[in-house]
Amino acid sequence: MVNRKVFLTGASGYVGRNLAIALHREGYEVTCVARRIERCPKRACSKVVQADLRTPGPWVDTLPGHDAVLHLVGIIREDPRQGITFQTVHVEITERLLAAAEQAGVRRWLQMSALGADREVTQYQKTKKRAEERVQSSPFSWTIFRPSVIFGRGDVLTGMIRRMMAWTRVFPYFTGPDSFELQPVHIDNVVQGFVKALSNPETVGQIFEVAGPEVIPYRDFLRIVRQTVPGPVLLMPFPGAWMLRLTRVFQHLPGWPMTEEQFIMLAQGNTTPHWQRYFEVFQIEPISFRAYMSKSVGGNNGDHTDP
Ligand SMILES: NC(=O)c1ccc[n+]([C@@H]2O[C@H](COP(=O)([O-])OP(=O)(O)OC[C@H]3O[C@@H](n4cnc5c(N)ncnc54)[C@H](OP(=O)(O)O)[C@@H]3O)[C@@H](O)[C@H]2O)c1
Repeated sequence: MVNRKVFLTGASGYVGRNLAIALHREGYEVTCVARRIERCPKRACSKVVQADLRTPGPWVDTLPGHDAVLHLVGIIREDPRQGITFQTVHVEITERLLAAAEQAGVRRWLQMSALGADREVTQYQKTKKRAEERVQSSPFSWTIFRPSVIFGRGDVLTGMIRRMMAWTRVFPYFTGPDSFELQPVHIDNVVQGFVKALSNPETVGQIFEVAGPEVIPYRDFLRIVRQTVPGPVLLMPFPGAWMLRLTRVFQHLPGWPMTEEQFIMLAQGNTTPHWQRYFEVFQIEPISFRAYMSKSVGGNNGDHTDP
């Protein structure tokens, strides 16, 4: 199976930029699709297509000739006043793109989902799952990836925590009956799977849970990030139930760090016992969060620059 020309949505995002570069390095011809095209890594894109995929447009005519769609578009926060909802972005965009790509004769489809999609508790999870189902019932040769929280150069989560720690010098960790466990996976490990799946027919029709080699309680996760922040930072216990109530009230205020949905998913934990399968099938070496972050102690290990 050769899929040399690929249509990459979400190419301006964190995963998309890294994936475009990895694909380019492997000799793929990458059509980079995004609204904010100035954020796409131009050197890796053989073509850049500006598209809001919520509506049909000229982007549809750029699909013929591609061997595969790599569909990364996703949001973690809704903005209903702008018509940006989980249903629109996760489900309806996927449906529209599936129909257009089928019409254009594309055969292969790699779908970016998220670990926990099958829990279907939050709207984020439910719509990620609905999008998976649309892909599964399509005529494409599909592969679905469900990553846990992704870390690495320029990642949003540890970057935000590091900035908040440096600014406030006090940071809450949540207590209570919930799990609050993470299993972070390195961005290189994530993009390697996408690239390798394009040339591996055995991955067709499969869902991969993509998580790193360590299950880390949130408090330890914060301790590990804290080591990379110069100066003292105090970690304070804070009841998870209170945080949930506060977040319900204040989530729409600018600067509030998370939505109610994000807190619920953090409290659930984001781990999988099946993480090794991904690394075995794709023959990828897992990157440890602890080891990676320990190289960053004192500030920067030189690997925090966004592509
Ligand atoms: N980062 C993680 O830890 C993580 C973990 C699990 C799963 N995921 C999934 O991985 C995918 C990529 O995540 P990310 O971290 O790279 O997110 P990101 O940086 O926010 O990127 C999201 C991408 O989606 C595009 N997009 C959003 N709405 C669009 C629209 N209406 N039309 C066209 N493009 C649109 C954005 O492009 P423009 O803004 O330019 O339009 C951007 O390129 C998402 O599906 C996410 O759910 C991420």
